[in-house]
Amino acid sequence: MITENPKAIIAGPEAETMVRLENVSKQFGAVKALDKISFEIRRGEILGLLGPNGAGKTTAMRILAGYFPPTSGEIFIGENSLAKMPEKVKRMIGYLPEAITLYTDMSVMEILNFVAQVKAVSRKKRKQNIEETLCRCGLWDVRNRLLGQLSKGYKQRLGLAQALIGDPDVLILDEPTSGLDPEQINKIRALIHDLGREKTIVLSTHILPEVSMVCDRVVIINHGRVAASGTVEELEAGLDADHEITIVMGDRHRKNEVLALLESIRYVQRVSVLEERADRVAISIVIAHNAEVRPNINRLFAEKDIPLLELRTNRLSLEEIFLKLVVRENF
Ligand SMILES: Nc1ncnc2c1ncn2[C@@H]1O[C@H](COP(=O)(O)OP(=O)(O)OP(=O)(O)O)[C@@H](O)[C@H]1O
Ligand SMILES: [Mg+2]
Repeated sequence: MITENPKAIIAGPEAETMVRLENVSKQFGAVKALDKISFEIRRGEILGLLGPNGAGKTTAMRILAGYFPPTSGEIFIGENSLAKMPEKVKRMIGYLPEAITLYTDMSVMEILNFVAQVKAVSRKKRKQNIEETLCRCGLWDVRNRLLGQLSKGYKQRLGLAQALIGDPDVLILDEPTSGLDPEQINKIRALIHDLGREKTIVLSTHILPEVSMVCDRVVIINHGRVAASGTVEELEAGLDADHEITIVMGDRHRKNEVLALLESIRYVQRVSVLEERADRVAISIVIAHNAEVRPNINRLFAEKDIPLLELRTNRLSLEEIFLKLVVRENF
């Protein structure tokens, strides 16, 4: 069976740029929330914005959504400048804000109707668009409740629903899974993943595994600047300048021989015994420059006829990369 992955076609390196921020800065009085931030999102891509509290994620998303203008810099959605064609661009965008506080005395249905009007969804399509969205976001049963009476998780679902109204090409989702129960988190992640087939999505999150699960690419921001960007794999590989391999050998009487041989391998910086038991020894090997030495280690054990019971690369997780970058910049 041939399974087609539309994302591979849509979001390849040659895919068109759908969202572009060029040297965007935002000043709030004395606070520089964004400092010449630039990045692009290709059509069909899901980009994760990652950063500590106060990094500038919400500010960047508000600017992208046309909520307020940048102090300097430019934003393009497709070929259109947000500053020059705000109305056209805003109709191409669905925005889930950090918190929805408006219209507390309107029902879910009324709110979605209102949003459909603002987004100029034709009268003919409106009913179907709203009903589909209610079902997709698990809101059908509460469609007649007032916003003010909804629980936090349902408000979050409504936030997502109103972003989807009008079937916009670009979705800007500020912490889309915040405040949801575990089942709903899974559902919303699956929905975002699904939407990513047709739409260009930027989402912010504090949940690092979410980035690996949902996003094609990550931009880490810190103090209003881009600290790193790339695919999760690229970030993991790029920062992994020194990495560690753990091996477990049998025949512990030959430990010293092995330690000396390992030390003689090019790029091996440090070798140390982690644990020693009756029949096995665990050894840590620190390797410089992200070099590939696993074949050398395998060969060495084969040539000397020493049992190699385990070989494991301890790469940095996204979490460690994030902490490393953020800590490096903050202290
Ligand atoms: N309307 C505003 N007026 C003044 N300062 C603001 C305003 N909005 C944001 N800031 C400041 O800009 C900086 C970036 O805030 P922002 O809300 O964009 O961060 P964030 O990355 O979304 O953080 P969080 O993870 O807590 O949501 C912070 O220092 C914040 O205090
Ligand atoms: Mg925020």
